[in-house]
Amino acid sequence: MKGVILAGGSGTRLHPLTKVISKQLLPVYDKPMIYYPLTTLILAGVNEVLVITRPEDRPSFESLLGDGSQFGISISYAQQEKPAGLAQAPLIAEEFLNGEGFCLILGDNFLYGPGLGRKLQKLDSAEGATIFAYKVKDPTQYGVVELDNSGVPISIEEKPMSPKSDLAIPGLYFFDKEIVGICQNLQPSARGELEITDAIKDYMSRGKLSVQLLPIGTAWLDMGSYESLLEAGEFVHIIQARQGILIGSPETAMVSRSK
Ligand code: TTP
Repeated sequence: MKGVILAGGSGTRLHPLTKVISKQLLPVYDKPMIYYPLTTLILAGVNEVLVITRPEDRPSFESLLGDGSQFGISISYAQQEKPAGLAQAPLIAEEFLNGEGFCLILGDNFLYGPGLGRKLQKLDSAEGATIFAYKVKDPTQYGVVELDNSGVPISIEEKPMSPKSDLAIPGLYFFDKEIVGICQNLQPSARGELEITDAIKDYMSRGKLSVQLLPIGTAWLDMGSYESLLEAGEFVHIIQARQGILIGSPETAMVSRSK
C-alpha cells in the first residue's frame, strides 16, 4: 500500500519554535516528530511513502529520511507551496498515487496503542474511505464525527463550537482512488482551506465511509501545541524507560511487521 505524510503547514501555535524549522522536524523526546507518523505507516503495511513538505524544508527532510532504503521502504518527496488545507494532499500526490488508493497521515500525529499495527494492516484503500474516532474530553479543536447506534456515521463537523459527540477524528485516513476527483471539486472553506472533512463528507453521503473506534488506552496526540508536544515526549520517555522498547522507530516497526 501507498502512504502520504503531510508535513507542511505553518505551525503558528508553536512559534517561535517553528519560525525557522518545520514542526515535523522538532524533537519528540529522542526522535524527530516525523518518525512517529512514519512508523505508523510502516506498521500499517505501507511500503511506498510520499512526504509533502514546505518548499524551504524539503532539503532537511531529504537529508533526514533519504530514499527510505535504510527502513526497508521507498520514500519520495513533494512540496506544498502554501498551507492551503489538508485536502490538497491528494492533489499534490496525484502522480505518486497513479490511480491507487492510499493511507494519509498528518506529520504531527502521534498514535500508539496495543494491536494498532494489526488493526491497520487489516484495512485497505481499495474501496471507500476509513477514518478513526477517538473519544476526547474537549472535541472543539478537532473534526468531530457523530455515529448512530449501529456505528454508522451521521454527521461530521470541523472544529464545532457545540460538538454533537465526543469523538474526534485523528489525522489518519484511508482513501480509495476516488479521493483525487473529490478534492478537485472542493471549494475552499470560510478559513480559505480545502478541508479534508468536506472530502470525508462526500464519502459519507454515498454510504462509503467506515469509522473505526480506537480502543480505550490508545494514545493519540496531535503534537501541534506546546502542551501536546511535551506530553508526547513524556509519554515516549516513560514507556521506553519502563519497558525497554522503542516507540516511533521505523526500523523496529519494520522488524515487528515482518514477524
Ligand atoms: P495544523 O496543526 O492544523 O496546522 P499547522 O501545522 O500549520 O499548525 P498551526 O495550527 O499551529 O498553525 O496541521 C495539521 C498537520 O497538517 C500538520 O502536520 C501540518 C500539516 N498541514 C500541511 O502540511 N499543510 C496544510 O495546508 C495544513 C493546513 C496542515
